[in-house]
Formats: sequence, C-alpha cells, structure tokens
Amino acid sequence: MKVTCVVDDAVCDHSPFWGEHGLAFLIETESGSVLFDTGQSGTVLLHNLKLLGIEPAAINALAISHAHYDHTGGLPALLAQVDGIPLYAHPDLFRERFSRREGAIKFVGLSLEREALEQRLTLQLSAEPTEILPGVWTTGEITDRAEPEGRSAHHLVRGSGGMEGWEPDPYRDDMTLVLEAEGGLVVLCGCCHAGLLNTLAHVRRVFGPEIIAVAGGTHLLHADEAHLRRVIEVLRELGVPRLYLNHCTGQRAYVTLAQAFGEKVAPCPAGTRLNFSERRRQS
Ligand SMILES: [Fe+2]
Ligand SMILES: [Fe+2]
Repeated sequence: MKVTCVVDDAVCDHSPFWGEHGLAFLIETESGSVLFDTGQSGTVLLHNLKLLGIEPAAINALAISHAHYDHTGGLPALLAQVDGIPLYAHPDLFRERFSRREGAIKFVGLSLEREALEQRLTLQLSAEPTEILPGVWTTGEITDRAEPEGRSAHHLVRGSGGMEGWEPDPYRDDMTLVLEAEGGLVVLCGCCHAGLLNTLAHVRRVFGPEIIAVAGGTHLLHADEAHLRRVIEVLRELGVPRLYLNHCTGQRAYVTLAQAFGEKVAPCPAGTRLNFSERRRQS
C-alpha cells in the first residue's frame, strides 16, 4: 500500500507541491483509496492532488481525524467533486471549536453544516474502531488517556458554565488511522490531540502489539523534556517504529527524536511517498 502526504506545513526545496498549515494523507491499497484529512484549503489540496495525478472523483472514501480547520478546510472544494462516497469521523466532528489568542475568540472548527456534507457524502460517524477498506481502520475514540494529551491551551469549546462559558476542548473526536501492513501496523496521525502515547497504547490494545511505523502530526510541539523522555522510552519499548513526522510535531521534538533514533526518523513534507506491503488475508 502507498501512503502519500498530500498536504503538510512543509514542502521540500524547489518542490512543485504547495504547503500550508494543515494535513492530508492519501492511502492507496489494492482495494481502493482513502483521503485522510483535507488540509486547510481546497486551493492547496486540489493543486497537490493534481500534481499526484489523483482525480478527486476517483477517491473511494474520506476520513477526518478531527474538526479543526487545518484538517477539514479542504472539504468544501472537495464536495463539489465527489458524489456519495463515505466520510468516516467521530460523532463529535460537528461540535463547534474555538481558539482564544490575546483574549480574542476565533472559530477554528468545521466550516460546513452537517446537511451540506450529507448532500454529497454518506456520513459514517462512529466512536468505535471502523474498517474503511480491508486493512484500513479508524482507531475510534481514544478513550484511555493515562499519558499526556496533545493539548494546546488556546483550544476551547462552549461549556455549560465557568471560564465565561468556555471550556478546554476535550478533543473527543481525535482519531488516527491504522493500516495493516506486512510485519505490523502503520499508525497515521492527524494532530494526535489525544496524545501520541495514548494513541499508540490504544492501537496496541485494539489492533495488536506490533507497530512498524508512525506518520503524521504528533502534537509534541508543547511537550516538555519529561514528556519527550517518556516518548523516547515508550518508542524504545516498542522496538522503535519508523517515524515520519510532520505538521504539529514541533521542531524541538523532531530534533530530540532524531538524536535518539537516528535514521528511524524522517520528515514527511507534502509529496512524501511511503510504501508498505499489504498484509495478506486468509480467504
Ligand atoms: Fe487540531
Ligand atoms: Fe492540526
């Protein structure tokens, strides 16, 4: 199976791909293709898909990691070009999300109403692990969060009281994809607000112990030294999966992990292609 980073904050020097703060991956297997997240804008998403030779109308399914605009912003442009395909996400996708910076509150969630999505897509909303294509799963909700989450203090939702009606975003909708590859699992992260270590623990509990690669945004940009040390310790216990890090990983976390694991760590800018062997299924 092929995993291609379609949108990321970064692009390589002289790359024809466009970058912006956001994330999208395309997963192509023998059974079909899944677009995981849509970046921040249709302009960048459609430009980069075109460079990859991918017709939006040929995509078989969409999956959304969580509601934030940098993962859902390409949806309006995409809707015009797809028809009736399923969209997999957590039911909390439609909860309004906000950001507060220097006292100013800004909407940062999904910009489309549920009805607009339902006109063009078949919504498959579930908090349970769900198989999108053979060997391509959503994690479902990451319920057990014993390790630090991937939080940003400015992310808020409307609350019932206190904090002038605002509460920290619980990020219940944050889901990751799991790909069943030969030799183990590939974990494809959106923003990892549920926490990288919580996500990995959930994946091992639900899908099996062997994780061979982790790609995407790991939200370690606010992680302190103790947290990064713990990440290194857990990844060592897992036998050090390959790490293709991008988006909200953070430069300090990237350098720390690269110093710890050397060539097991690589950047994953827009246009990066990763290949994994599909796990053979017994028929
Ligand atoms: Fe996010
Ligand atoms: Fe993000």
